[in-house]
Amino acid sequence: MNIVLITGGSRGIGAATALECARRGMGVVLTYNNNPTAANGVVDEITAAGGSAVALKLDVADSASFAAFRDDVVQALTTTWNRDSFDYLVNNAGYGAYHPFETVTEQEFDDLFKVHLRGPFFLTQTLLPVIADGGHIVNMVSATSRVATAGVSPYASFKGGLAVLTRYLAKELGERRIRANSVAPGAIRTELGGGLNDEFEALLTSQTALGRVGEPIDVAVAIAGLLSEDSRWVNGQSIEISGGYQI
Ligand SMILES: NC(=O)c1ccc[n+]([C@@H]2O[C@H](COP(=O)([O-])OP(=O)(O)OC[C@H]3O[C@@H](n4cnc5c(N)ncnc54)[C@H](OP(=O)(O)O)[C@@H]3O)[C@@H](O)[C@H]2O)c1
Repeated sequence: MNIVLITGGSRGIGAATALECARRGMGVVLTYNNNPTAANGVVDEITAAGGSAVALKLDVADSASFAAFRDDVVQALTTTWNRDSFDYLVNNAGYGAYHPFETVTEQEFDDLFKVHLRGPFFLTQTLLPVIADGGHIVNMVSATSRVATAGVSPYASFKGGLAVLTRYLAKELGERRIRANSVAPGAIRTELGGGLNDEFEALLTSQTALGRVGEPIDVAVAIAGLLSEDSRWVNGQSIEISGGYQI
């Protein structure tokens, strides 16, 4: 059985990805930050359907905690699957915030940096010894790095940085046959940044070729497909999952 570790698996795209990966037969380690109840709900849904999953606490902004988190992961792998490594890492955890360029503070900039670039960078480095050779890393980036969207300049800049990091991971980890790709959702119906109101959804719908906003499952199936053997030759790419947003 392949095992996937998904950060931010308590809600939204991460939760949908956890459920989809479990449905396809993977063991799932999902992390939560502030919502253990939601994370345990995802674990319960997976186990009720006959799958296996574990929820662990992780604050992606707190790199000092990463070594202890790796110990928690190894413990969970041993106890639940009798393994000492896992196969797939999905760096998904994140948050949205509206910060016009003219007024964003250094604190707001640093907070976003810690979660969206510094965190995935050093979490991946810390977990690397327990990612199996032949594994795969998926980094969650954003269509806002392609389409400039007023109010998210720091967020989009760090997501763009994470897409660049993805190519470096693919290059430097190739000798271990570890693939790395990033996935860039367009507008997806989650609680990110306070969620969508009717007016915003109508605007996004009008800007999307397929005529609706995305649902978390639309991204989840794309990630699960990337993890599968069918995508074995896809490496170092950033793939937009947006239904054709502003094309
Ligand atoms: N929704 C979109 O339109 C969209 C578009 C492009 C990219 N994305 C990206 O997709 C990813 C998932 O977003 P989403 O829309 O699913 O958001 P969401 O519904 O708000 O879920 C966010 C998840 O990230 C976790 N999280 C937030 N801050 C964290 C931290 N400091 N440490 C660890 N976990 C943290 C949350 O955990 P707790 O609830 O347990 O705190 C939650 O599980 C993010 O990276 C986001 O930037 C989303």
